[in-house]
Amino acid sequence: MTDPLARWLAHADDAVLLDGFHALKHALRFGAEVPVAITTDRRAALALAEELAEDVQDALDALLTQVPAQTYASLVPRPHPTGVAALAVRPSREAALRRLARIPRSAPVVVLDNPRNLGNAGAVIRLAAGFGATGVVTTGTLDPWHPTVVRGGAGLHFATAVERLGVDELPPGPVFALDPEGDDIRGVRLPDDAVLAFGSERSGLSDELRARADRLLRLPMRPQVSSYNLATSVAMTLYHWSATGGVVPAS
Ligand SMILES: C[S@@+](CC[C@H](N)C(=O)[O-])C[C@H]1O[C@@H](n2cnc3c(N)ncnc32)[C@H](O)[C@@H]1O
Repeated sequence: MTDPLARWLAHADDAVLLDGFHALKHALRFGAEVPVAITTDRRAALALAEELAEDVQDALDALLTQVPAQTYASLVPRPHPTGVAALAVRPSREAALRRLARIPRSAPVVVLDNPRNLGNAGAVIRLAAGFGATGVVTTGTLDPWHPTVVRGGAGLHFATAVERLGVDELPPGPVFALDPEGDDIRGVRLPDDAVLAFGSERSGLSDELRARADRLLRLPMRPQVSSYNLATSVAMTLYHWSATGGVVPAS
């Protein structure tokens, strides 16, 4: 099937939308299977590849098909400034569970306990990818593969394991739950096999997750401030892990 529109429509129902050049670049870099990629301006997209993504330049050259602007606009919910979009195959739940369960682990797993904000979830997946975290697990109803989360994650869902699980199914490892009432994180070295849990934007950690926690930790914050934003809290905690011995991959 060579027609890009037909290929797009054949995969659209069960694939992950990669919205824009950077999402496609990241997904290819981290091994995503991409059956179709379209652009409104192939020459501009390949110039970006030459400038920013030499490592996946050949893959982009082979994949990207130019389509009329109208066709592109009819296939994406919101046109992206780069005029690039692609569909990627979502990794299986089994593959994610295998990655999450593997011990020993070289970097923590992040757990978002019943998150509500799709943008926060995307930002956290991007952070997890940047720090080389083993994965991001969500509990509750939010789908961590929702298109808005994927947009926020900039195609980096493929750089870490992303799955929704029950609190009773968390990966192995000591659970450090982040809460303003916990012990000061600055006195604690977070191990590589840590499971780092964060509460919901609205109501914080659930009772179920608190019961699973081995330790509650707080981020430094002056008393008049109630809490930090969820993604910001994850950023500080992963930074703390890296600053106290955790190794962020160098390549
Ligand atoms: C926006 S906050 C939740 C605020 C919520 N209203 C509450 O009652 O906790 C989201 C999550 O970020 C983390 N967090 C925010 N500020 C923190 C702090 N100072 N120390 C540790 N964790 C914090 C916690 O995991 C918290 O559940």
